[in-house]
Amino acid sequence: MPMYKSDQLAHQLKSLIEKNIWKAHTKLPSLREQVESSGFSLMTVMNAYQKLEAQGLIYSKEKSGYFVAEQTKPALDSASTLAPKIEINSSVFKYLKSIQTPNLVSLGSAFPDSELLLPIKLRQIVSQLARYPKSYDQTTNLPPGNLALRKIIAQRYCMQGIPTQADDIVITSGGLDALNLSLQALTQPGDYIVLQQTTFYGAWQAAERLGLKVITVPEHAHCGIDVDAFEQLILHYPVKVCWMMFNAHNPLGFTVSEEIKFKIAKLLHQHHIHLIEDDVYEELFDGLNKPLPMKYYDQNNLVMHCSSFSKTLGAGFRVGWVYAGKYSEHIQHLQLMSTISANTLVQNALVEFLSSHHYEKHLRSLRLKLKKNKKRFYHYLKQNLPTQCRIHYELGGYFLCIMLPEQASSEEIYKTLLNQNIAVAPSILFNYSQQHQQFIRINCSFDWSNHIQSALDVLTITLKQLSNAKLET
Ligand SMILES: Cc1ncc(COP(=O)(O)O)c(C=O)c1O
Repeated sequence: MPMYKSDQLAHQLKSLIEKNIWKAHTKLPSLREQVESSGFSLMTVMNAYQKLEAQGLIYSKEKSGYFVAEQTKPALDSASTLAPKIEINSSVFKYLKSIQTPNLVSLGSAFPDSELLLPIKLRQIVSQLARYPKSYDQTTNLPPGNLALRKIIAQRYCMQGIPTQADDIVITSGGLDALNLSLQALTQPGDYIVLQQTTFYGAWQAAERLGLKVITVPEHAHCGIDVDAFEQLILHYPVKVCWMMFNAHNPLGFTVSEEIKFKIAKLLHQHHIHLIEDDVYEELFDGLNKPLPMKYYDQNNLVMHCSSFSKTLGAGFRVGWVYAGKYSEHIQHLQLMSTISANTLVQNALVEFLSSHHYEKHLRSLRLKLKKNKKRFYHYLKQNLPTQCRIHYELGGYFLCIMLPEQASSEEIYKTLLNQNIAVAPSILFNYSQQHQQFIRINCSFDWSNHIQSALDVLTITLKQLSNAKLET
């Protein structure tokens, strides 16, 4: 097979690196210099450099060029990859629009059934407070946010053994705002960040918007995160920030063990890498104890822990927060240039609601209902799905993932079901590289009803038909 010119050049440069003629952190010739010395075109040189970068042999720095990466480590696990230029925003937009259709069975939604959220007591507090002009007072609720609410949130961290002051917390317009502000505060365009291979699409969108380079860390069948691959990739690339989920992962559902969390925290600490911890499902655990966040292991204020009330009280409230610590002021600067503050009336209402025992009582009952509903979905699907499909069941949260047979397309299944008024979330939303196993994510928070059962029947029939068709081809 003829070798591309870019492969030829990449091969020549690779041997200079492997023979240690070009030492670690040496600057490579600029693209123009390489064009002149090699006689290849600019496109060929660019392609060659990108190939070496994807193999972890070189890395780039914004406005400074390319440099030789450390070569003293084991070869980079092929499952850890530098993602191609990210262009996911328009497909996520199309997806989110498609599931807004009225009368759709919302198995694709990321929010729990609203019937389970919005406790009566909270609604009463909101309507009572809504009568008083004082409840809308902006000045006491602007960044960093309502002091009483920040004190309550800080207290909740302290209860988990994480020393926290109200000043460490910044209230935001939901969890996604907290995550986006944190990423913006910690990165410059062109920086390398780590995402999990399968991850909430909001992380991919943020990376696209901020012009960041993404390296993905693969999942591990038992541990959730492949720690060895993680260690290798942070040795190969000058990683600035990781954006990851450790508890009730969306979409896969896993919760990482304390042992693995500790190992990852140690690596972050050794390499001084920041972590943006997406923990919006932290309260929806299964069992007696709330899993610890990575913030618990953070000794150097490297972890920006982000969460919200969207999954427990209602996404419509748009109230979240970030444990910003020393970055509080930076986050507030960015907030005052963008989303400004979370809703004032809601912040006041949350103070009153959270000050009583109502929240804990609501959480206990919500966890039980979600567990019951997810089990019901699981057993029904298990009985009815074609054998080629596998259900991925994890404790906590309210998602199930149906792993599809080889060659099946999650997008095709999503489109077929949408035509029958059923929404599911296809894996292309979470896996930017489509080479991985395809799946669909199902929201199982809904109470069982004929309506839900019929939708699951359509889903299983569709999967059977598709699996049979694939077997025949
Ligand atoms: C993993 C994950 N992170 C963040 C968010 C955003 O949460 P919020 O509604 O609080 O902005 C979501 C919402 O679906 C999510 O699933």
